[in-house]
Amino acid sequence: MYGMVNQAIKSMVIENHGEKMWDSVLQKIDLKILDFAPFEQYDDSVTGDLLGAISQLTNIMPIDLLESFGIYWVFYAKNSEYKSILESFADSPIGLIESLDSLHSRLQLLFSGLSAPSFWVEHNGPNEVIVHYATVRMQMPLEYFVIGLLKGIFKMFNQSCHVTLLPGDEGEKAKFVVRY
Ligand code: HEM
Repeated sequence: MYGMVNQAIKSMVIENHGEKMWDSVLQKIDLKILDFAPFEQYDDSVTGDLLGAISQLTNIMPIDLLESFGIYWVFYAKNSEYKSILESFADSPIGLIESLDSLHSRLQLLFSGLSAPSFWVEHNGPNEVIVHYATVRMQMPLEYFVIGLLKGIFKMFNQSCHVTLLPGDEGEKAKFVVRY
């Protein structure tokens, strides 16, 4: 993953648990990197190792940690230099979810090696959609990250939603029933 993602994990840990906890995380996985260069690509195992160590040191279950990171990421992006890109796609929570592929395509101009996720939305009634998620990172439990991302998107609009995780259809990692 691009360093921006790992840097956001660092920022979340320091905000919620302090600098000392971050030092312990680095020590636990024997990582000597002080700051992640946002445009540098790090092996996905670095992100996995970081999350594993944070989970063990904070006693937060990996799936809960990933969900919290998803919510955190939406606000991290909103307060970053990508604020205007994010806001240009954000007319409503569902509108933003429907535009995530276009958003990541736009970001590909800046992050040329981006292995972007893909989402598509099936309307299931007035207050319910099914969000389909595909990724090349099938070995990582990123569906729990997406639960947080979806909740974070609604939170960004001062709304809330209920998310149920379901197995994905063929070629997908997962799908989510989102009620709002
Ligand atoms: C302006 C805001 C955003 C920026 C700058 C951004 C940027 C990125 C970057 C750099 C990665 C790493 C991919 C790689 O290194 O190959 C990534 C991954 C990802 N992004 Fe975004 N993103 C943004 C918004 C969102 C939002 C709102 C969602 C909500 C669903 C989202 C969903 C994901 C997911 C699930 C991944 C994990 C990659 C995977 O599934 O394989 N992103 N994004």
